[in-house]
Amino acid sequence: MVGKTILIVDQNQASRDYLSNILRERQFNVLGVGSGKEALISAWRDHPDLVLFDPIFSDIQDVEFVQKLRQNARSGKMHIIAFSSDPAPVRKEALLKAGVEEYIIKSSEAIPQLPQALDRFFGAGTIAPEGLESSQDEKKNGRLIVFLSAKGGTGTSSLCANLAMTIKEQNPDARVVVADLVLPIGSIGQIVGYGGKLNLVTVADLPSAQTNGEYFLKNLPEPELWKFQLLAGSPDPQHGNNLKGDRIGQIVDVLRASYDFIILDIGRSLSRISLPLIQQADLIPLIVSTDQSTVKLTKTVWEYLHEQGIDIQGVYAILNRAVGLEGVTKTEAEGIIGFPIKTTLPYMGSNFALANNLNQPIITKYPKDTATIIFKDTAGDMVKIARQLRARRNLN
Ligand SMILES: Nc1ncnc2c1ncn2[C@@H]1O[C@H](COP(=O)(O)OP(=O)(O)OP(=O)(O)O)[C@@H](O)[C@H]1O
Ligand SMILES: [Mg+2]
Repeated sequence: MVGKTILIVDQNQASRDYLSNILRERQFNVLGVGSGKEALISAWRDHPDLVLFDPIFSDIQDVEFVQKLRQNARSGKMHIIAFSSDPAPVRKEALLKAGVEEYIIKSSEAIPQLPQALDRFFGAGTIAPEGLESSQDEKKNGRLIVFLSAKGGTGTSSLCANLAMTIKEQNPDARVVVADLVLPIGSIGQIVGYGGKLNLVTVADLPSAQTNGEYFLKNLPEPELWKFQLLAGSPDPQHGNNLKGDRIGQIVDVLRASYDFIILDIGRSLSRISLPLIQQADLIPLIVSTDQSTVKLTKTVWEYLHEQGIDIQGVYAILNRAVGLEGVTKTEAEGIIGFPIKTTLPYMGSNFALANNLNQPIITKYPKDTATIIFKDTAGDMVKIARQLRARRNLN
């Protein structure tokens, strides 16, 4: 079926392969995962049109799985079919009640039943024009990189701007946009020296028909030395508080369709607005500073994100010595948080604030500094991991 994507969820690889072949023959795009948690992540990030799952999971309860899909704005309206190795009527009843549209029992009869159900949802099989919309997600969506932290003042905005600049420098042909979504007031404009009128608030006020991809590509400023295009944040708390959440989601969707790298600063906010963005992210740089309280808070934030179906693979933890030389070591921080830290940035003293005040990127201002080498390595590594994770998803 042209452009429609089906997510297959089955613990059994052979079963997944078998279904993939049948569905690919029918011109569907197919994604496959082996566990309930991976399925939630993929559903929220990849937006399949239909989830086809065998409700025998070892990691999450089947009814809870369906409820999580139904209750989330990103997946609430998806078609859901259970393709089940369990013929028990109780399971069938519970799942239909939770929001599954069809409960098909795996058997020889099931093979015609499945295409019939698909035809009911998507209309009888039209033939795909060749290659037109295949691997749609890959073509349509740029890589979404979402910077966040558990606490303020950890250097999230500075690292977001500097790493985005480094990514653009290393990928000169890529279209890179940074959007400052920190509410109620942004700060990246200040770091890069942009004080113009075009920002999140003024863009959100425009009718959505006007703010298409072309609009952003043509109008977003490209601050000198920074190379990327910037959608600056809210200039003051009063405007920031009045922003409509659904507009932010729409704006990010448009950016994803028009840029290769969409780099967001969401600061320390885990709100209704930011959570779906984190769930869709290809990579989540999580900035941790070296004081005990931030490290502990980071653990709490991570536990929450994990509950929301975020995959640890996508989290890219950066320990930033923003507060001086004291504080926990990398190993201590890893012990508390419970997952590896990918990069440690040294304390740069007043040099960092000076570069910020002069609106200059660190790698331009201090080309020989250790921090510059680390920025370059980190930017390269982040892009590599984001690409690997996407490729792995498309292969499955
Ligand atoms: N590695 C570092 N060495 C020295 N100073 C640093 C380092 N990292 C960040 N800083 C300084 O810490 C301050 C806070 O940085 P920044 O505004 O980027 O943090 P933030 O987490 O975005 O804060 P907020 O909660 O206000 O959004 C800045 O003055 C910055 O120059
Ligand atoms: Mg900030």
